This record gives sequence, structure tokens and C-alpha cells, in this order.
Amino acid sequence: MTQRTVYVNGDYVAEQDAKVSVFDRGFLLADGVYEVSSVLDGKLIDFSGHMQRLKRSAGALELALPWDDEALLTIHRELIRRNALEEGMVYLQLTRGSAGDREFHYPGADTPPTLVLFTQAKALIAGRSGNDGIRIATQPDWRWARRDIKTVQLLYPAMAKMAAKAAGADDAWLVENGVVTEGASNNAWILTQDGVLVTRELSHAILPGITRAVVLELAEALSLRVEVRAFSVEEAQNARECFVTSASSFVTPVVAIDDIAVADGRPGQVTRQLRDAYIEESRRRAI
Ligand code: PDD
Repeated sequence: MTQRTVYVNGDYVAEQDAKVSVFDRGFLLADGVYEVSSVLDGKLIDFSGHMQRLKRSAGALELALPWDDEALLTIHRELIRRNALEEGMVYLQLTRGSAGDREFHYPGADTPPTLVLFTQAKALIAGRSGNDGIRIATQPDWRWARRDIKTVQLLYPAMAKMAAKAAGADDAWLVENGVVTEGASNNAWILTQDGVLVTRELSHAILPGITRAVVLELAEALSLRVEVRAFSVEEAQNARECFVTSASSFVTPVVAIDDIAVADGRPGQVTRQLRDAYIEESRRRAI
């Protein structure tokens, strides 16, 4: 792979020169938040939604964000340009910085935050998963209780994905009190046998997905019936269609859950319609 240019605290540097302190609180304490914005045709998808959520996450943690949307847009665009990124993602991470030692309490306002951004090339449109669908294995949701904040504490989602892989699946859905919370890195959806689109309501239990919000709008525009509520694994296994949404997967069909095929085990029609609509709308709105 050709060497990327990475943004670190005001500088655009070659990836091997992109460094932060070993005392950075992101490294020592997972004291940081992140966003992943997708890129199509060299342009950003749902950018303002991602920046709004970044501000919300930072605010919930009293984390300073001394860059406005305009400044962050300039950095995103500059990275896309320098890396000639046509299709893929821009990853942004903001941490509470380094106070030069390990200490639980937050440092004072004189400790500047750390801001890092890098690009990741990925075939978002033609990728196999998005078109052929993915197999899900369920795992207990053992994450913390503020999953609505997009923090970099991703060890448990990584463990859940590894367990899913060991079970022969492509990804994990997390289950708590008998219902699905969300995917390990996406929001979960079903289309019931009665043709009702169902996704879980927002709360501290799940991340408010930016793709989820746009897909809800599209579902309304397509006159689909929608219920915002939790569903069980069994309801999903018996659904007409299942899918997941995220910036890095758009709308991706789910074809099996714990080795039980969803319907005939092939991507559903409404899922495909929503995926196509999301891609078309995103291309239209991209900046
Ligand atoms: N993940 N839920 C979780 C737990 C997530 O990590 C994500 C995104 C989503 C979907 O949110 P959005 O539609 O805004 O991408 C839901 C990103 C892509 C990641 O961690 O790579």
C-alpha cells in the first residue's frame, strides 16, 4: 500500500512520522471519541451529522473541541486530496491529550486535546458484503452503559467480532435482556413478515447512527411502515429481511443469524431498495 498522509495536531505527515505521546489519555485510558465518515467520488457523506455527533460525544465527556465544523471540513478535504481518496472512509479521533503522566482525574484546560485523522480506502459500493449480505452471530452485550457516546473503548466490540468469526460468521449482534441492542459496529434492523421496518429506539443503550437517521428518512419517503422499538433474536430470525447500517457499510443485508437463514438466505428486496436509495441520496448530498 502506498504511504498515507495523516493529520496529527495541525500537521500533515507521512504515516510513519504520525506520532502521539505514550502519556496520551487516549492510549492510557481510552479517554477519547471518534467519528468515521464515508467518502464516495472523493466527497464526504453525511458530514454535518457526523460532526454534530462528535460535538455531542465530546460534550458528554467535557472534552474540548477547539475546531469548528468549517475547520474540520477543511482537514477532511485536505486529507482526501493528499491521499487521492475516491472511495472509503476518513477516521477522526479526539482525545483528552497528554498531561505528561498517568492520572485518572481530567487534566486542566491548559492540556490541549489530541486530534488525529487518517483515510482508509475501501470498496463501499462494489464490496462483497454489501451486495451478497453477511452472516451474524449473536453475543452478549457486555459494553458499558453509555453506548450513545462514540468513545474509542472498542475492546469489547473487537472481542465480539472475534467470537463471531470463530463461530463462522462475518459480524456480531449484541444482545441484552433478550433483545438486540445493535451490531458491534452498526445499527440493526428487521423487516417483519407484515412488512414493518423495525429498528431500536435511541437511548443510552445504542449509538445514534448517522446512517440510521438517514435511512429512517428514506423509509418515510418510500412510504414504508416503521416501528422504532427493540426486537428479539428470534423475531429477527423469523423476519422477512434483516440488515445493518453504518458509515462503513451503508445498508448491508443480513442473510443468517446464529446459523439460521433469514427468509431464503438471500438479501431482501426492501434492503436492496434502501441500500440503492441511500447510495443515490448520499451521492446527491455529498460535499
Ligand atoms: N461504527 N453502532 C455502533 C456500535 C457503531 O460503532 C456504529 C458505527 C454504528 C453506526 O453509526 P453510523 O451510521 O453513524 O456509522 C452503530 C463505525 C463505522 C466504526 O466504528 O467503524
